[in-house]
Amino acid sequence: MTALDTAPTFHETTLTAGELTLRPLNQSDADEVAEACQDPETMRWLPIPRPYTLANAEWFIGTFAPELRESGAGIVFAIHVAGRLAGVVDLKHVNWAYKVAEVGYWVAPWARGRGVASRASRALAEWAICAHGFERVELYAATGNVASQRAAGKAGFVREGVARNAGYVHDGRVDLVLFSLVPDDLQRPDLKPQMS
Ligand SMILES: CC(C)(COP(=O)(O)OP(=O)(O)OC[C@H]1O[C@@H](n2cnc3c(N)ncnc32)[C@H](O)[C@@H]1OP(=O)(O)O)[C@@H](O)C(=O)NCCC(=O)NCCS
Repeated sequence: MTALDTAPTFHETTLTAGELTLRPLNQSDADEVAEACQDPETMRWLPIPRPYTLANAEWFIGTFAPELRESGAGIVFAIHVAGRLAGVVDLKHVNWAYKVAEVGYWVAPWARGRGVASRASRALAEWAICAHGFERVELYAATGNVASQRAAGKAGFVREGVARNAGYVHDGRVDLVLFSLVPDDLQRPDLKPQMS
């Protein structure tokens, strides 16, 4: 047995956050994933395949997400609202030794502006901290991605600064605003999520 055989992993889980259900993706989500990932704003801020096809969605759901979870490097959740796929939120770059992970998300165009990203990212960060003992959950947003920064702030993530040239999108390298949530933040009244 190697050290890798005993590396921690996430188990498939369903979480709820108000009207949101966060559950494992399955192939019945593929059409909606493909449609949302063809949206220009999603393409603008995420370095996903361009064009984004149904086959890309099926690979993401059937191969990428299960392998990520089984490796312990992260976990992907479908965000459902009233039976419809509203978006995807994930934990990635998971460092079990340091208990640090990063949250990421996208929201389908029809579901934007109603708190989906802020609620889902808060729920996932709280789950990582409370159920898995993580000490720090990071969130990065490009300096130009105002909606993502706003969502992070509403979720109670604390803005720490700008990591220069740290990210990439289809148009090239970007500076990233770094946010984090740590266990003590969960008790701070000023960092309670601001959900409308
Ligand atoms: C960023 C994204 C995930 C936000 O999802 P969402 O569910 O709409 O986010 P929320 O509703 O929780 O919060 C968004 C906030 O940004 C605001 N906002 C949206 N576009 C904005 C803009 N261009 N300028 C300023 N604020 C903006 C919204 O009004 C809302 O704030 P409010 O509730 O105070 O009105 C979504 O726009 C998206 O999927 N974008 C494309 C992919 C992406 O950028 N992923 C994140 C990469 S870091």
